[in-house]
Parts: sequence; C-alpha cells; structure tokens
Amino acid sequence: MSIHTVALMGLGVRGKIHLHGLLENPEHFRIVGLCDVDELKMRAVAEEYGIPNVPLFTDFQTMLKTVRPEIFVFATYPDLRLNVIQAAAKYGVKGISFEKPMARSLQEAKQILDLCHEHHIKAVVCHQQKYLSQMQNMKRRIEQGEIGNITKIHVETQAWFTQLGTHYVDYILWANGGYRAKWVCGHVHGPICLEDSHPAPDYLLGTMELENGVHAYVECGYLAEAHNPPEYGSSDNRLTVYGTDGYVYAETDGFWGACTKATGGRLVKGKDPGWRNHQQIPIQTPYYTDFAAWLDDDSKVHSCNVDMAYHGFEILEGMCLSALDNVRVDLPITDLNYEPVVERMKRELPPCGSRKMDIYLGKGAHKERD
Ligand SMILES: NC(=O)c1ccc[n+]([C@@H]2O[C@H](COP(=O)([O-])OP(=O)(O)OC[C@H]3O[C@@H](n4cnc5c(N)ncnc54)[C@H](O)[C@@H]3O)[C@@H](O)[C@H]2O)c1
Repeated sequence: MSIHTVALMGLGVRGKIHLHGLLENPEHFRIVGLCDVDELKMRAVAEEYGIPNVPLFTDFQTMLKTVRPEIFVFATYPDLRLNVIQAAAKYGVKGISFEKPMARSLQEAKQILDLCHEHHIKAVVCHQQKYLSQMQNMKRRIEQGEIGNITKIHVETQAWFTQLGTHYVDYILWANGGYRAKWVCGHVHGPICLEDSHPAPDYLLGTMELENGVHAYVECGYLAEAHNPPEYGSSDNRLTVYGTDGYVYAETDGFWGACTKATGGRLVKGKDPGWRNHQQIPIQTPYYTDFAAWLDDDSKVHSCNVDMAYHGFEILEGMCLSALDNVRVDLPITDLNYEPVVERMKRELPPCGSRKMDIYLGKGAHKERD
C-alpha cells in the first residue's frame, strides 16, 4: 500500500465532495495541488478543508507540469474532458477520476478510453450513487438470491439522460453483474434540453438485451413516471430489478422497496438518506478507498471503471442512433465515423411541447408536468 499524490481541478459543488472523499483517505492519498479559474473560491476551499498551504493554480496544465501528481481528479462541466485528459496523459499520471457524463459524444468518449488504455491509466467516472445504502442493500438482496434469477430491469429518471441516465445505465450493468448489452433500440423527442450544458433530448425511451438474456428498459426525461411527493422534484428516479421470485427497487432520493422471498412476498418500503445529502453521507469516501485498492492491485477493478462508463455511454448513444435511423443498433458500435448525435438531434428533433426541467432548481416534477 502506498500514498498517492493527487492534484484536483474544479472546486465547485462536486469538486469539494471529491476533495472531502480524498481527505477522508489519508492513508491512501495526499493532496499536492488544487486548481480552479476562480482563485478566491479556491483559496476559500483550501482554508475550509484545512489545507491552506497546498500549491494553488488557475491553469491545470501548469499544475500538472509543476506538481507531477500520480493521480489527477477533476470535476468540471462536460465541455472540459478530452483536452484535460490529454494533458494528464502527457504529464504521466497513473490514475484519473472525473465526473459524469464522461464526454459530449461517443467519438470523444472513445478517444478518452483509448488514451487511458494507451497510457495504462486507471480511470474512474463518477457514478458513485451505487455506494448509497439503498443501492448497496438492493444489490445485496439480488446477490443473496432474494428475487431469484433476474428477468428484467427498469429505469425511470425525470431528469434527461446526461444528468441521471448515465448514472442509471451504469447501475443497470452493475446490478446485473457486469454483463454487456448486445443490442439497443430507442426513441427520442424534444429539443429543449439539447441546449443545456448537459445536452440530451427531453425524453429518451430505450431497451436493450444484456449478454445473460436479461432485458432492460430505460426512460429518461419529463415523461418518466414520478414516484414521490413534489418536493423531491425532477430528480425523481427509480431502478427496479425484477426476478423469478420478486422484485427490488432503489432511488437515489433514498426510497427503496423489496417484495421478495425474504419479505414473505409483501412489499416492504423504506427511506434512507438520499444523494441530496451527499455532503453529509460519506459515499465519496469508500469510492476513493476502492480507487486506492485498484491503484495498488490490478485485480481490484473499481465498479466505476472507465471501460464500463464507456459501455454505458455507448448504450445511450446507440438508443439515440436507433431513434434517428429507425434501426436496431448492435453493440459495440465499431464505426464512429458519423455526425455527433447531439448535433444531429439539434437539427432533426422538432419542437413538441416538451418542457425543460432544471433538477438543481428543485422545481416540483409534478408541477412541471401540469
Ligand atoms: N456524480 C454526481 O452525482 C454529480 C452530481 C452533480 C453534478 N455532477 C457533474 O459534476 C460536474 C461538475 O458539476 P458541478 O455542479 O460541480 O459544477 P460547478 O460549476 O459547481 O463546479 C465547476 C468548477 O470548475 C471550475 N472550472 C471551470 N472551468 C475551469 C478550468 N478551465 N480550470 C479550472 N477550473 C475550472 C469552476 O470555476 C467551478 O468551480 C458536471 O459534469 C456534472 O454533471 C455529478
């Protein structure tokens, strides 16, 4: 076991949570540099987190060149991905941790994946909500055979797919034991969210068959069913796993349910802390403990590894391509020589009365749908 040096860029909402998770693992990580274009904010964060003497930078290239970290963590918007990872590879980092969505297009995601492979970089994409207790308990029930054999998986997220869908496709693959998708089909409509910093159609409905024969269904956007009271807003979401002997579900808002052999065939429901409390509940801490384990031991591959994140991205991209071309899309997508789907959707999707919902403004989902 060794202590890895870490440089971190982007000290906004998520960057601070990453920093906290790293500092909670002092036996594995030591912060050697921070970077943000907002210098005042960066100084305040360094003070708040008790590391006022760490070197501060407003340019990530300068930080990487100067401190030469083993690990580079960055939490910025989706327009800052490929060029940042290219710089990290140039300066010889061994590990990268970054935020979802992993890219703005499958072409860009593939370049990132190839860079990581070529430079032997272990990379994780932050689909960390699988560390929430309700998600972990759902997985445990599945692994203990409480629902028998998995037959079907259903995802519903009120937020559009670049907000929550990338998380949830990753959780489908995780809940189902890592089997990849063989084919996907999809429908998309609504151009409003294509103009967001996280562009996606207002609604996506897709299906896939996984290698173990399980079918999974994904609904992302304003038409997905809302399960909870309006105060839970448009981040309302649910992952339901059906089996031969029952079903289980979990939501990042904390809600969960189980109707299994162990519950005597009755639906038992509960509420754990949700992701909105992510500042308080320490899910980023085990996330980084597991990252350190992978860095130290090749066999301990992280559940948020970049290969799985790429496959999740490919699944959603395939659903968009299926919708635009009216075809079934077989995976993997090997020919990437096509116009990026976001650009194509901007041109081709007609207005249709769909509504944009900003999940971070906390507007009630039900209200939005009235
Ligand atoms: N995993 C999750 O649960 C989760 C939740 C929310 C958001 N996210 C993702 O996290 C990412 C960041 O979101 P956020 O809410 O933290 O954003 P934010 O705006 O709060 O923070 C971004 C930070 O990056 C800094 N920055 C921007 N350009 C920079 C540059 N060139 N060099 C250095 N610093 C720069 C900004 O000044 C800001 O401090 C997004 O991709 C978002 O989708 C993930």
